[in-house]
Amino acid sequence: MNDKARNRLDGKVAVVTGAGMGMGAATARIFAGYGARVVVSDINVQAGLETVEAIRAAGGEAQFLACDVSNDEQVRQLIEGTVAAFGRLDCAVNNAAITPDTLPIAEADMDVWDRVIRVDLRAVMVCMKYQIRQFIAQGEGGAIVNVGSVSSVRPQPGNSAYVAAKHGVIGLTKTGSLEYAGQGIRVNAVLPGAIDTPMLRGALDSSGFTEAEFAPALSLFNRFGRPEEVAEASAWLCSDAASYITGHSLAAEAGYLTR
Ligand SMILES: NC(=O)c1ccc[n+]([C@@H]2O[C@H](COP(=O)([O-])OP(=O)(O)OC[C@H]3O[C@@H](n4cnc5c(N)ncnc54)[C@H](O)[C@@H]3O)[C@@H](O)[C@H]2O)c1
Repeated sequence: MNDKARNRLDGKVAVVTGAGMGMGAATARIFAGYGARVVVSDINVQAGLETVEAIRAAGGEAQFLACDVSNDEQVRQLIEGTVAAFGRLDCAVNNAAITPDTLPIAEADMDVWDRVIRVDLRAVMVCMKYQIRQFIAQGEGGAIVNVGSVSSVRPQPGNSAYVAAKHGVIGLTKTGSLEYAGQGIRVNAVLPGAIDTPMLRGALDSSGFTEAEFAPALSLFNRFGRPEEVAEASAWLCSDAASYITGHSLAAEAGYLTR
């Protein structure tokens, strides 16, 4: 790797939501490794502090700010707090999401449905709102990566809220890219496939399958992805190397969507 690639986020300030574990934690670590100063944010304080500790132990710069992304005021404070901590905001990865069990549409529990939409879709909108306001105030552009899913383009039965929310994430990504291209703000999405995180392990445990049984249906590589394999895509999309890319959804799914 040349120096330019190794330092691809040097000087940038990034915020990552849901960065206490799984893909968010890996994203925060990878961003810090590329030179970004990172605000690690999560509803789970202990997990978020552990991510910060890991980044600092590796020589990176990070700070924890607690935020429940489903609370608009906490999201506003997160962006305000990021600027207070590091002076500015250059990139954001809107990663936090939940996947409670859902039922087929006719049996749906609408309280559960509303909660999933609030965390997985509405919160992405609110995060974008305050991030874009900050980018505009700085006047130097910015980059957002929204974390969608293969469920953003391919539905799964029994998951109507998650599927609808993740389809909506692509709509928000495209709308944001159209509205703010003129201000140099790029908005893209990553669509992870089956990635080995606490979320996926939870789904696997309740299905009763093993990785060896399950992975071939979800990956041309017959294995689950590592969180870092998605984080690398987000880091590149946030870097100046992706300066001509906006409104795009980059699948990191080992070819699952090609079948
Ligand atoms: N793991 C996969 O296979 C997979 C596949 C496709 C998409 N995704 C997406 O990737 C992203 C990360 O998933 P993951 O597998 O790492 O999940 P995870 O459940 O392992 O981690 C999610 C993190 O988000 C935090 N969080 C949950 N609700 C929050 C809230 N209201 N406010 C702030 N933080 C909150 C949790 O505390 C946790 O740290 C999500 O958007 C998910 O939908 C995951």
